[in-house]
Amino acid sequence: MYLSSQKEKQLSKEFLNNGYVIKKVCNQKDLNKIKKIFENFLKMKLKINKNNNLLFDQFHKIIKKKNLNSLRLDLISYINKDNQFKSLYYNICRDYLDALVGNELVMQNNINLSIQLPRDGDSLLPLHSDVWSGDSPYEIVVWLPLVDCYRTKSMYILQPKDYKFLISRIKKNNIKDGDKLFKSVEKKVKWLKVNYGEVLIFNQSLPHGNRVNKETSTRWSMNCRFKSVFSPYGDKKFGEFFKPITLKPMSEIGMNYILPNIDRDEKN
Ligand SMILES: [Fe+2]
Repeated sequence: MYLSSQKEKQLSKEFLNNGYVIKKVCNQKDLNKIKKIFENFLKMKLKINKNNNLLFDQFHKIIKKKNLNSLRLDLISYINKDNQFKSLYYNICRDYLDALVGNELVMQNNINLSIQLPRDGDSLLPLHSDVWSGDSPYEIVVWLPLVDCYRTKSMYILQPKDYKFLISRIKKNNIKDGDKLFKSVEKKVKWLKVNYGEVLIFNQSLPHGNRVNKETSTRWSMNCRFKSVFSPYGDKKFGEFFKPITLKPMSEIGMNYILPNIDRDEKN
């Protein structure tokens, strides 16, 4: 997949206006591989042989709620054990990141996984901006679902046009609590419909979050941060949280250069 400069411009405009883009993945084969990795793991771990739909969308019929978090953590360590999964993940959004962020990128070391069973209030994220808790505003989040996500089975974002309204609410009413903040902008937030086969890429400095999944099926989604190698870092540091994935040779040379102990020739 290649984005012409015209398409890149359109994508950038859409991202700046809305605070996110939802697009077809750049590589469907790699998305299928990702899903297969999950499927094989679940079948092996839970000793079941269910079909796709039952395994993901109807997962709440298979798993006991008390076992969910440990299974989720096992899955996270399984998918992050080598770079193969990370390169599949990057392949599904590569062209979009190239246009929106740049072509010399760092990627989060560990891809995150969220499994939200219907009516489960345990793993909720109240309205927040990641930057408010120390992340760099230069980071972008790639959110990839393994099932169709809509309404409360998905996540919401407050778009740039409504951000000022929230800031005025914060100032006026001195609200700091995420739930109260959500109530103050509930009618303005945009719930994002992202189908399997699509990827959501969003600006994590905009307020976002989720609520109890009131739909009848389970949400499976992954999220991972990317940023330009040479953009400023927040609490999540280069080499620890972020690893370079697409360094150009000249950047590699520059980063590894060791200045010898030599008198400098000022004329040079
Ligand atoms: Fe967040």
